Amino acid sequence: MLSYKHAFHSGNHADVIKHLSLLAVLEKLAQKTKPFSVIDTHAGAGAYALDDAQVEQNKEYQTGVALINAATQHHGLLQRYQALLITAAEQGVYPGSPWLAASQLRDNDQLTLMELHPSEYQKLKRQRFLRNANIHNRDGFEGLLATTPPQIKRGVVLIDPPYEQLSEYEQVNSSVGKLLRRWANACVLVWYPMLTKRAGQKAKASEQMQAALAQLECASAFNLQLEVSDPTSDVGMYGSGMLIINPPWQLFESIEAVLPDLSHQLGATKTTLDWLVHAE
Ligand SMILES: C[S@@+](CC[C@H](N)C(=O)[O-])C[C@H]1O[C@@H](n2cnc3c(N)ncnc32)[C@H](O)[C@@H]1O
Repeated sequence: MLSYKHAFHSGNHADVIKHLSLLAVLEKLAQKTKPFSVIDTHAGAGAYALDDAQVEQNKEYQTGVALINAATQHHGLLQRYQALLITAAEQGVYPGSPWLAASQLRDNDQLTLMELHPSEYQKLKRQRFLRNANIHNRDGFEGLLATTPPQIKRGVVLIDPPYEQLSEYEQVNSSVGKLLRRWANACVLVWYPMLTKRAGQKAKASEQMQAALAQLECASAFNLQLEVSDPTSDVGMYGSGMLIINPPWQLFESIEAVLPDLSHQLGATKTTLDWLVHAE
């Protein structure tokens, strides 16, 4: 079953914490001249037209990028993210993770994208800003293990499944565990939804996944969460999180610095930033 289409959710508050975290990692990797690789296991269509009927149906960007765009930014990371949102808008799109990754790549860096949905894959293939990317129409969990460790061993993996099926939570866990055994220093970004009781078994599965990921052997890891509603409210998703394994040096501090402004601009009810494994 592949019914999820990211266009309906493009630019929402979850995209903001996901894409801001990804941008922060990419900027840190680009501080060294050595090349890096980026793997996006669930890439989506790459970018979403501002006037797309699916984007306009829910207008979820009003809970995310529209608020970032409307604010005066005081921190470098938020200023650069806002500048990228403006550049994307000038091209007529909301950026997806592939657009953001491509915007930060230098000539020798490597971008690998996986997307299982046939029509999303076709859109991704046609994106002109992805001319130098390796684009696969395959299962992202399978493809991640088949293509790692990459030739360029400094790098980041974004794991951003739709979590349509309960089994995806366990697939994330087992894939990250196997990935770290073959590519121990990979920086791994896992996005996950924070779900109320209304979401039934998925709420528990998401919490169990977070707890299991926190137990994996790695040099360092931290967790970022942004809540936009009360957990007891009648919404399905009350916020979302990014679990970041093997973060680049001072990534935690960069995110910590922008979190108060980010929280205020997105109207967050609560934000959390905690080390799970802290390298001495
Ligand atoms: C949340 S969206 C990705 C959004 C994208 N990462 C971004 O930030 O712009 C999840 C995507 O995963 C795709 N998908 C679902 N199951 C998949 C699988 N097993 N392997 C790869 N892609 C999958 C969906 O079609 C959808 O496009």
